[in-house]
Amino acid sequence: MKSLVSVNDLSKQEILNILDMATQFEANPNRRLAENKVIASIFFEPSTRTRLSFETAINRLGARVIGFSEVSNTSVSKGESLKDTITMIANYADMIVMRHPLEGSVRYASEISKVPVINAGDGSNQHPTQTLLDLYSIRKTQGRLDNLHITMVGDLKYGRTIHSLLMAMSHFNPAFRFIAPQEMALPEEYKKYLKSKDIPFEELSDLAANINDTDIVYMTRVQKERFSEPMEYEKLKNVYILKNSMLEHTKSGMKVLHPLPRVGEISEDVDNNPKAYYFNQAQNGVYARMAAICYLLGIS
Ligand code: CP
Repeated sequence: MKSLVSVNDLSKQEILNILDMATQFEANPNRRLAENKVIASIFFEPSTRTRLSFETAINRLGARVIGFSEVSNTSVSKGESLKDTITMIANYADMIVMRHPLEGSVRYASEISKVPVINAGDGSNQHPTQTLLDLYSIRKTQGRLDNLHITMVGDLKYGRTIHSLLMAMSHFNPAFRFIAPQEMALPEEYKKYLKSKDIPFEELSDLAANINDTDIVYMTRVQKERFSEPMEYEKLKNVYILKNSMLEHTKSGMKVLHPLPRVGEISEDVDNNPKAYYFNQAQNGVYARMAAICYLLGIS
């Protein structure tokens, strides 16, 4: 039994195998390979894409889904512990997909559960299946994962998709550029991680001046829910806004990615630019999650 809590739970070869499987699912999405399985989708934090793409993936695989997206309708609201909740759900389902606001909570759940647990996002820590769909989107649009220049923008401090993606990309000899307000800069632990792997990175402040030679611009939202002080959020939320005019001199094959939701950091005038890929990226989540489910359930 294998859980997927951090992207580092997968080797480079396992990542590539999952991406190959995802390619097959995109070509033929209705594959009833998991008809006898029940998968629990438990979301302690709001979600649109992750929950619904997982549930679509489960349905397309012919499995059945149970779960909740609103904690107030569960016995957690009566004070039941996470340990008891996970122990019970693991008795009902063959796999658990879990999102939770606390960093480390999904690792804890995976240690209690007798069935595989997939991390659908734990606080500002990790979001490994987002990374799988990000890698899938990057490989599909760039034709490769190796030797790419990636510019990450926005909330690099709390952005779990940033943390997971830079770790996974570290297998593929990338060069990074980080553009964030000082208050949202990439935490030291991730800089140390990149340095330990001799991966070059620059920390810059001007968005328009620094995207013309990059292959991927990965935008992120400043996450209101991570701030205890509303004024701090108001100060930072609109520091970086990508506008269509900024894309004029970028590379022809460059793509703009965003894990979504966006709340203004990508101007709507970018949406019709062929370099905008974020809605396709979200669609790719179904195929990547079908592949991750099959891989963890041992279905080839
Ligand atoms: N990308 C992502 O995790 O989106 P949701 O919060 O809508 O699931």
